[in-house]
Amino acid sequence: MDFLEIEGGHKLFGEITISGAKNAALPVISATLLCNGTTQLKNLPHVVDIRTLLKLLQMLGANVEYSNESATIDCSSIKSTKAVYEIVSQMRASILVLGPLLTRFGECEVSLPGGCAIGQRPIDLHLKALEAMGAKIEIKGGYVRAEAPKGGLRGAKIVFDKITVGGTENTLMAASMANGVTEIINAAREPEIVQLCQMLQSGGVEIEGVGTSRIKVHGSGGKPLCFENPIEIIPDRIEAGTYLCAAAITKSDITLKSVNIEHIQSTIDKLEDMGCHFQISDNSISIHSPEELKEVNIVTAEYPGFPTDMQAQFMAVATLARDESLIEERLFENRFMHVSELNRLGADIWLKGNTAAIRPVKKLYGADVMATDLRASSALVLAALAAEGTTKIRRIYHLDRGYDNLEGKLSSLGAVITRGKE
Ligand code: UD1
Repeated sequence: MDFLEIEGGHKLFGEITISGAKNAALPVISATLLCNGTTQLKNLPHVVDIRTLLKLLQMLGANVEYSNESATIDCSSIKSTKAVYEIVSQMRASILVLGPLLTRFGECEVSLPGGCAIGQRPIDLHLKALEAMGAKIEIKGGYVRAEAPKGGLRGAKIVFDKITVGGTENTLMAASMANGVTEIINAAREPEIVQLCQMLQSGGVEIEGVGTSRIKVHGSGGKPLCFENPIEIIPDRIEAGTYLCAAAITKSDITLKSVNIEHIQSTIDKLEDMGCHFQISDNSISIHSPEELKEVNIVTAEYPGFPTDMQAQFMAVATLARDESLIEERLFENRFMHVSELNRLGADIWLKGNTAAIRPVKKLYGADVMATDLRASSALVLAALAAEGTTKIRRIYHLDRGYDNLEGKLSSLGAVITRGKE
């Protein structure tokens, strides 16, 4: 198993380019199943989750050519509609093939994704939406078996009682080939949702309310979509935010290229609260970090609020602030796995329910720690960059799922980081 060794205490400098967003690429790849032909994708990040989903599509019969940041996916040759446990268990987001497979082929089987480190993460809202569109759903032998009514899914009015990114994505894809109009109320508004809507629009689907919490999809009535132009994946807002935090915690000045400033506004705002300054031009951003960081108060929320996927990284940064910070996690019930590992590095973090109090410490010290989930792992990397001495982070396969060339990018900024095997 791979581990990372980071020698802390080095300032970062220079510039890096942000990769395409994993969380935008996953629904886009799933949506290629709606096309009875070839779709071209650009700016895909080199991360394990992308390779996992492409492998799933290949297992379903798609022809996939993948090199550098581009992929050509031909879904005219799909011969199976069963997403097997071996793949789905590696990555929860595989559930995103449910909507497109069902709406295009009329039936499918997708393994239940199960729980994960950050919480229970059920898929009840995905299933409820598909049922509202006329699907018959059965859960048997660890699989979701879904069958569309004769003639295909029917447009419906879907009210999500909780905002769900994946649920909104699955519903959008299912609705795109359904008969009639589907209205999604309390839809997620993340940039990933907007990218998916724009892709579906480019495939010939009329969609109203893109980027709002009320989206109307005029289904194609069973006609497969056709994506003639390449789909370019938007920049990764969480990767960008993570590197801004890396600069803040090491009191450094760095520049990020290929970012969408609007998508990272809440991250910028919180770092400004902590005393960081920014220079922004088009799609690049430079951060100037203060010698002493101020405390910060954060409550996670759906977009455009502060992203839960940035919570762990800010917790790492807050450990070295001048006063106590508070972070409240509102989206996932168990997303504080990084707390005990950060405390191993010398942090002083206390948990009460879903709120963490981060008491300031003068220094963090290198230690052996364990990565527990994707973003928790990046918090450990950030803490290690600032810690005195060397930190060994085990189980970094979590990081490989979501960060493109993490060691390469950090090394190019002057960090001392190596990967080893044990
Ligand atoms: C996506 C992101 C993840 C991010 C999360 C919230 C991807 C691949 N992953 O995950 O990085 O942390 O959004 O921004 O894009 N819920 C239910 N029932 C459901 C679905 C969700 O109760 O059927 C709950 C979840 O347990 C969670 C909340 O709703 O508490 C939000 O989850 P959701 O937005 O669906 O997250 P994901 O799409 O899984």
